[in-house]
Amino acid sequence: MLGFHDITLRYPKSTRPALEHVSLSLERGELVVLLGANGSGKSTLARLANAMLLPSSGQVLVDGLEMCRENLTLIRRKVAVVAQDPDVQIVSSSVLDELAFGPENLGLPREEILRRCKAAAAALGLEGMEERDPNTLSGGERQRLVIASALAMEPDYFVFDEPCSMLDAQGCAEVRAAIERLHAAGHGILHITHDLEDCLAADRVMLLDQGHVVFEGSPDDLLDKNLDLLDGLGFLLPPMLDLRHELLEHGVELPVRDAGHRALAAAVLRWREREGEGVARS
Ligand SMILES: Nc1ncnc2c1ncn2[C@@H]1O[C@H](COP(=O)(O)OP(=O)(O)OP(=O)(O)O)[C@@H](O)[C@H]1O
Ligand SMILES: [Mg+2]
Repeated sequence: MLGFHDITLRYPKSTRPALEHVSLSLERGELVVLLGANGSGKSTLARLANAMLLPSSGQVLVDGLEMCRENLTLIRRKVAVVAQDPDVQIVSSSVLDELAFGPENLGLPREEILRRCKAAAAALGLEGMEERDPNTLSGGERQRLVIASALAMEPDYFVFDEPCSMLDAQGCAEVRAAIERLHAAGHGILHITHDLEDCLAADRVMLLDQGHVVFEGSPDDLLDKNLDLLDGLGFLLPPMLDLRHELLEHGVELPVRDAGHRALAAAVLRWREREGEGVARS
């Protein structure tokens, strides 16, 4: 488990803590979506996950290991943090070198390095691009390369800090699909985002406001019963979830997980048929 226990973090010279008494746990195989407005403390939490920052009080534990100097190398192998901008995370001049960078630093044998590079490239759909200069890849491909490089370290947990925010719709769809595949493969995933659509894939959702957890529950719970809370924090329902909510108000229930385009279209048709029957009877 990746556990944040009663974390308070105060940056030097700041008037209020960026995080105050925040607790969050992530099991392997679980996908938790962490939502929050600008400045709510999301990236601060991400930086705590691999000890780029240390808390002012509270504890971060990874599979029982405490974040401290002695455990740092092991913890950074267990937890991969993927940030917003792929460009600042890529250091090599070829895709293969980038994939091999982490495993080489672990001092692994050459065959093992190549095996991991191949597996990571396959998992993120980068086969055939190994010789390419990362500068020639699209934004979505570059972000997938960052994720593949992290995967080559074979971490147990991934923390994604708004990985789609600098990508176009296509790149975003690719990265979302990659995150879902990593989830299906059994990794524990903390997906930090301000896009409510990301809740579709979540097992659990948490909401941060000004450094405090103000909601923890299922995506359905958040999107069915807590719209006022979201509204108050400036979140807009994306079109698909807005349509789902309209349908709910007309008695057509659709779990958040199923609120994809096709399922929504089918639900609209069901609703129209039902309405039609009602009209025919009356
Ligand atoms: N290095 C720093 N020094 C001082 N204050 C900081 C530092 N980094 C962040 N903060 C402050 O801490 C708070 C939380 O910032 P953080 O970057 O974690 O928010 P966020 O939720 O990731 O926001 P965004 O959605 O804009 O990425 C903000 O008030 C921010 O101004
Ligand atoms: Mg941030």
